[in-house]
Amino acid sequence: MNKIKNTLFSNKPVTINENSLIMGIESSCDETACAIVKGGREVIANVVASQIKIHEQYGGVIPEIAAREHLEAINVVIEEALKQAGVSGNEISAFASTIGPGLVGCLLVGMNAAKTLSLVYDKPFIGVNHLNAHLAANFIDTNLEPPFIALLVSGGHTQIIKVSSYSEMEIMGETIDDAVGEAYDKVARLIGLPYPGGPKLDKLAQEGNPHAFKLPEAKVGGYDFSFSGLKTAVLRLVKSFDGKEMPVKDICASFQECVSSTLFKKVRNALLETGYKQVVLAGGVAANSEIRKKIFNLKNEGFEVYAPIMKYCTDNASMVASSAYFFENTFDDVNVEVFSRA
Ligand code: KG4
Ligand code: ZN
Repeated sequence: MNKIKNTLFSNKPVTINENSLIMGIESSCDETACAIVKGGREVIANVVASQIKIHEQYGGVIPEIAAREHLEAINVVIEEALKQAGVSGNEISAFASTIGPGLVGCLLVGMNAAKTLSLVYDKPFIGVNHLNAHLAANFIDTNLEPPFIALLVSGGHTQIIKVSSYSEMEIMGETIDDAVGEAYDKVARLIGLPYPGGPKLDKLAQEGNPHAFKLPEAKVGGYDFSFSGLKTAVLRLVKSFDGKEMPVKDICASFQECVSSTLFKKVRNALLETGYKQVVLAGGVAANSEIRKKIFNLKNEGFEVYAPIMKYCTDNASMVASSAYFFENTFDDVNVEVFSRA
C-alpha cells in the first residue's frame, strides 16, 4: 500500500509504504504510550506508561490529574520507544497521535508532541481517531483486510461497525446509554471491587455459575444496545442480600453471561445480514474472557475471527500507528484540533 502524505513544515510529499516506520502516540485517557510500527503490522517498539495506580485511589480517572501525568511521561515514553526500536527520529516516516474522542487536556499533550516531532523532522503528521485505532489493533501481526464486521467494546463505546474498505465504515448500531466497559466498571463498584473493575469482575465471573441468576437482556431493536437496565437489575439483586453474604462470583458470572450473549447475538446477526465472513473484536473489553470465547465460537460456523492480543486491546500506541497507516485519516494538517466526543 503506497500513500503520499505531505510534510508539515515544507509540504514535501512523503511516500508511505510497507517499509515505512510510523510513530504513534496515545494519550486520550489514562495511558501515555508511544510505539513505532513498520508497514502498519510489525511492532518495532511499544511503550506504555499506565496511570491506573494514581487514579485507583479516586475510583476513576480525574482528567486534570491525567493531563499532568501525561505531561510528565510523554518525553520518557517517546525516548524509550526510539531506544527500543534502535532508530533516530530522522528514520521515522510520519508521526501520528490520537486526536479524539477522549479527554481534551490529555489529547493535547500527545498531539502537540507528535506535531512538534513532525515539524522538527519535517515529516507528515497524522491525526488518528481513537475508535479507528482500536479496530486497527487487529492489523498487527495478521494479514487481515476489509471487509469485516467489528465489535468495538471499550470504556466509552459499544458499537457494531461495518468496515467495507479502508476508507468506508458504517456504524450499524451502538449503545443508547452505558458502554459495556462502563457497565462492567459500575457493576464492579456495586459489589465493592476497586477501579478499574472490569478485569477483576471478569476474573471472578470465571469461577461462578453463569445461570445462577436470570438477569434481563434489554429489548433494543436492530443493532443498538442498552446496558443501564441490566446495571439496575444487578443493583436490585445486590440489595436483596441486605447484609447477608453475597454470592459474588455467581452475580459476576450471571452479569457476564447476559452481556456476552447480547453482544454475540447482535454480531452474529450483523454477519448474516451483510454476508461478511470476517469479524474482529476491538477495545479494552475485547480482553474479556467470555466475550472472546463466544465470538471465537463463530469459527465453528465458518467465520474468520480476529481479536488483538491483550496488550493491544487496551489503550496503546501501536494501534494508533497502525490506524495511521491503514485507514483514511483526514486529520493530516497542522491546524487539526483535538475533540472530546465522536
Ligand atoms: O479501550 P480501553 O482501554 O479504554 C477506553 O478507550 O475506554 O477500555 C477500558 C475499559 C474499562 O472499562 C475496563 O474495565 C474494561 O475496558 N476492561 C474489561 C476487561 N479488561 C478491560 N472489561 C471486562 N473484562 C475485561 N477482561
Ligand atoms: Zn480506548
